[in-house]
Amino acid sequence: MPLISPSLLSADFGHLDRDISMLNNSPADWFHLDVMDGVFVPNISFGFPVMQAMAHLSQKPLDVHLMIVQPEKFINEVSDLGAKIMNVHYEACTHLHRVVQQIKDKGMMAGVTLNPHTPVNVLEEIITDLDLVMLMSVNPGFGGQKFIEHSLEKTRRLRHLITKSGSKALIEIDGGVNRTTGRLLVEAGADVLVAGSAIFNAPDPAEEITILRDL
Ligand code: DX5
Ligand code: ZN
Repeated sequence: MPLISPSLLSADFGHLDRDISMLNNSPADWFHLDVMDGVFVPNISFGFPVMQAMAHLSQKPLDVHLMIVQPEKFINEVSDLGAKIMNVHYEACTHLHRVVQQIKDKGMMAGVTLNPHTPVNVLEEIITDLDLVMLMSVNPGFGGQKFIEHSLEKTRRLRHLITKSGSKALIEIDGGVNRTTGRLLVEAGADVLVAGSAIFNAPDPAEEITILRDL
């Protein structure tokens, strides 16, 4: 049974209050917040003022995904939101080891995210320091994209690396997750599924979360 982290990127920003209250009353485990800077990814989403409002409304742990350059500049701000998980991209951190330690020093779970083209073995020397590894199963920047099938093989490879190293890191998958790809991902070893459009475009989003959670 995977944990489900609905992505607020697919929520109706004109009715955040309504959508977050729906999620508060659903079996969602975490809330996934996607921050984009228009540099690391070709899109801009929302920043800290909006996330403070989201955090205020939310009754679930926040899973913050920073698709930005120099994410280490914002560790205090993410911590001040009360976030449970801070996810930074491997591709955005020259000194990843330091960033991971700083995130953990703030009492947050340290998550490292890999773009689709980045092999899992780049994490070999740091995997035992990580609380979570997130694999992008689409190129980051937009919701509603098609799942990259190769992510299944990559998930299996990551599961093997984690088992072999004795790491306790959770495996989270982000992008194109729905009932079909979700089931395959759970079989491949995923612990946490992010889903945006599959949840918010469903006729009954709370029911869809229940279905994904039961995969
Ligand atoms: C994409 C974001 C995802 C996105 C997922 O860059 O990181 O979290 O919201 O959306 P879906 O589930 O629609 O692919
Ligand atoms: Zn995301």
